[in-house]
Amino acid sequence: MAITSFAQIDAEQMQTWLASSFDIESVAAFKPGPGIQKLQLKFDVDKLRQCFNDMQYQLEDLGSGFHVMSLTRRPGIEKPTAHDNCGRFWTRVDDSYAEVARDEMVDESAYSEFNPLFEGTYFAQVYRQLIARFPIGRMRVLVKDPYNCNSWHRDPEPRLHIPVISNPGSLFIVNHHCTHLPADGSVYFTDTRGYHTALNGGEDARVHIVAALPYAGQQVTDAQVLGAQP
Ligand SMILES: [Fe+2]
Repeated sequence: MAITSFAQIDAEQMQTWLASSFDIESVAAFKPGPGIQKLQLKFDVDKLRQCFNDMQYQLEDLGSGFHVMSLTRRPGIEKPTAHDNCGRFWTRVDDSYAEVARDEMVDESAYSEFNPLFEGTYFAQVYRQLIARFPIGRMRVLVKDPYNCNSWHRDPEPRLHIPVISNPGSLFIVNHHCTHLPADGSVYFTDTRGYHTALNGGEDARVHIVAALPYAGQQVTDAQVLGAQP
């Protein structure tokens, strides 16, 4: 096809695109899609916020705009180590698109003890409701500063997210699906075995409870990722 024909196609498509209506409303709400779903379970968001306000003095600054409170821990481990605050993930970092592994594998099932610092709080009630339904590993309150995003990566296991404080510019992306997760007490399943990131493009900090879901036999391993023989 001649170059002028390609130019004509682009020009005509541009007119079609410009004539299409554009959507500025649906992005202000939750939209389920591949890798991001909403559970039936729901909590009292006012109690979540009150509990966060009461306990936020426990936040630890991890740098790069991240702050964390650990709600579960390895039995008897009073102060989280650097190992407790990281964990294996895989990412693609250059135009070779090859995956590389980062950090060390963490046994999520080892985080079987609720942190006594939060015993008697609403966060403890949330924890009891979750463990009645699912295997729960590391469960943390994660604060993300404004204009901040995570790396583009994938994890060994999925996560639950419970937004406590959010804003319309806070988004979660799994592969090609992107949505805002409103802080209304809802609990969201995020299949973080797929590529994902969380970003806060808003003007205020975003606060989520995030819990790993270490279902036995479902965690992704290096062997699966790198294609090694079992
Ligand atoms: Fe992740």
